[in-house]
Amino acid sequence: MAEKLFPVPLKRIVVDTVPNFDLFIKQKERYVLYRKANYTFTQENLRNLMDNKIVDLYVQKDDLKLYEQYRQRVGDKTEEEYKAEGYSGLFVNPDEVNRYHDIIANYHSIDTRVFVEGMEIDFSIYDHLDNDVHLFPEMEGKPEGPWELTPNICSYKKEIMIQKSDLLKYKAYVEKMMASVSGGDEKALQRKATALREMSKMVVQDVLDDPRSGEKIKKVGGAVNNMVGFILENETSYFSLMTISAHDFYTYTHSLNVCTFALGLGSAISLPKTPDLEMLGLGTMLHDIGKSQVDPQLINKPGRLTEEEFKAMQDHVTHGVNLLKEHHKLPEQVLQPVAQHHEKLTGNGYPNGIKGNQLSMFGRISSIVDIYDALTTVRSYKKAFTPFEALSILSKNEDDYDRGLLREMVMTLGKQIKAAAKD
Ligand SMILES: [Fe+2]
Ligand SMILES: [Fe+2]
Repeated sequence: MAEKLFPVPLKRIVVDTVPNFDLFIKQKERYVLYRKANYTFTQENLRNLMDNKIVDLYVQKDDLKLYEQYRQRVGDKTEEEYKAEGYSGLFVNPDEVNRYHDIIANYHSIDTRVFVEGMEIDFSIYDHLDNDVHLFPEMEGKPEGPWELTPNICSYKKEIMIQKSDLLKYKAYVEKMMASVSGGDEKALQRKATALREMSKMVVQDVLDDPRSGEKIKKVGGAVNNMVGFILENETSYFSLMTISAHDFYTYTHSLNVCTFALGLGSAISLPKTPDLEMLGLGTMLHDIGKSQVDPQLINKPGRLTEEEFKAMQDHVTHGVNLLKEHHKLPEQVLQPVAQHHEKLTGNGYPNGIKGNQLSMFGRISSIVDIYDALTTVRSYKKAFTPFEALSILSKNEDDYDRGLLREMVMTLGKQIKAAAKD
């Protein structure tokens, strides 16, 4: 066995190419030949290695020259160039990026806590792993439902998705699950919260698909009022009940989280339920509605945006305000979170760079909770910050945000995290 082996990042070996050198993997401090030279490196190989959490492959010292030539042949791009294009993580291959977009366009992420053992579902479920979706084994070979929810499904901890075309069936299931809840214990509360969240996510998705429909905005209003009621009833524990630990940065999940944090903060500073919290809730739930007008490839780009892309993305604010003004009659305050959630007190925000007193209370709340959720959510190319890390990042830029609100946010989250830790 070769004594001198050198690591090369797995992401530098491109699917469907033929490396002309041996590839090794390291297993328990030993190098093992993985793929002999001159065999195609397949999608299957990539998935297999990723499943085993392999990040680096190894090549023999004598083969390093061949590896360099291979890189020039297949990649002809440097790490920097890939980064500039926004490809990071394992998404070096444009096909992988397309695959990622396909999944987001056709599948909807659901919360596994909605499943109750023994109940039946009539829609297929998929796990979302390594940039692919796989049908659950319970459903294989049995194309027609209904399928019973097994302990395996109910205890599944990673992300589950359903096909978007099954959303109505899913909604009916959530309603049935909700109706079966009885009693007021912890479990019943958690189920109620889960149902509320899943319903809210769907109404937001509906409005993003059809942002001009008055009826859909009305449904968002209904969901928000239910959330306001729930948060006021469960002031000390809404955080663990209502926020979603998102597996990725989907606009519907983000909207729901931003709305939840805003309502928590709003109730902490004693804003009245009607109309203030209800308007704040509706405005924050709709705050990114303008994203429906931006190219989905940009919205869900699995990597950092280039400067040009970032500018196009910023237009979502103006699109959102225009959409709501043109097609819906909503109180001015509902528009404030939409218009101001990316503005900063220092004037360093967008789109208008307004500062200080020009930012409304709703705008100030939205700007804090929006960035907080963005920081604490996993994205395909970055890890999530912990609540503590996120708050210290906000505190480092405290001139950008309302100091009093930021302090309130720290206290509120502190209380909520403590309550969640007790569970
Ligand atoms: Fe936004
Ligand atoms: Fe946002």
